[in-house]
Amino acid sequence: MNIAELQNEILAFKKQNDVCILAHSYQTKEITEIADFTGDSYQLSVMAQKTKQKNVLMCGVRFMAETVKMLSPQKRVILANPIAGCPMAEQMDKELIEAVKSQYPDYTVVAYINTTAELKTVCDVCVTSSSAVRIISKIQNDKILFIPDCNLGDYVSRMLPDKTFKLLQGGCPIHARVSLEDVKKAKAAHPEALMLVHPECSPGIVKEADFVGSTSAIMDYAKNSDAKEFIIGTEISIAQHLQFSCPDKRFYPLSKDLICSNMKSTTLVDVYNALKGTGGEEIVMSDELIASARRCIDKMIELGG
Ligand code: 13P
Ligand code: SF4
Repeated sequence: MNIAELQNEILAFKKQNDVCILAHSYQTKEITEIADFTGDSYQLSVMAQKTKQKNVLMCGVRFMAETVKMLSPQKRVILANPIAGCPMAEQMDKELIEAVKSQYPDYTVVAYINTTAELKTVCDVCVTSSSAVRIISKIQNDKILFIPDCNLGDYVSRMLPDKTFKLLQGGCPIHARVSLEDVKKAKAAHPEALMLVHPECSPGIVKEADFVGSTSAIMDYAKNSDAKEFIIGTEISIAQHLQFSCPDKRFYPLSKDLICSNMKSTTLVDVYNALKGTGGEEIVMSDELIASARRCIDKMIELGG
């Protein structure tokens, strides 16, 4: 079977079997073409509640599938490739956060959505890269303990100088690879280009950017801008998707190392096998875990809406 044939099989099968395919924007073009919806983590969490289908297949990483399950527990949620985890989501555990909380009892604990369901049970409010500033600005408490990404936390703290932030040393190993040397080289090679970066990059990189935003915000900015050239400081797929949708503009990845092997581990064949029941993994969570972990996601949707 070639790619188009496989895509047609997938489209026919998902229609017959009442499946909604959700894809994160870091997925490959072949996958986004067969998805019902592609977006950033905030948009995916909103879609998780809106989809009418009884089954959801997530092409992304595990915490994204867990978020869908928590928001729609009555649905059957499948992670297309079970090995797709997010290393940042697994950097901290409940015990560590509980110990830190006991040192800062008057702080509101804000979790980046890139965290496990278990970790979310000890947090107060969840945020995504696109919603963090808006949501934290609405939290009454001025003291914020932000986990796990200290780069996103640093970015948000600069945007909200009236609040006091306590950050821990966590973050995305992929975005952390970008160096100031990469910025210097990219800007020297493309002096007319605007630099758009994800807030998971380190503060020194974010400071050099013309625009900082989530994966979808970066795509929207580039599509709507009058500029013709862009240096893209996030996973390489965003530059590739933009090049397809805006052929009259030029997109340059900030670093060739910006490849998330977890996001890239899902293939069309995985999607096909997951639909047929010969692959993928159903997300199973106890009612207690769902009830406890989704409080902070509900809070995110309440404050972010
Ligand atoms: P977004 O919230 O921008 O989709 O980012 C998710 C992510 O994992 C970025 O590395
Ligand atoms: Fe996790 Fe980083 Fe991959 Fe995003 S790019 S899924 S934060 S490891």
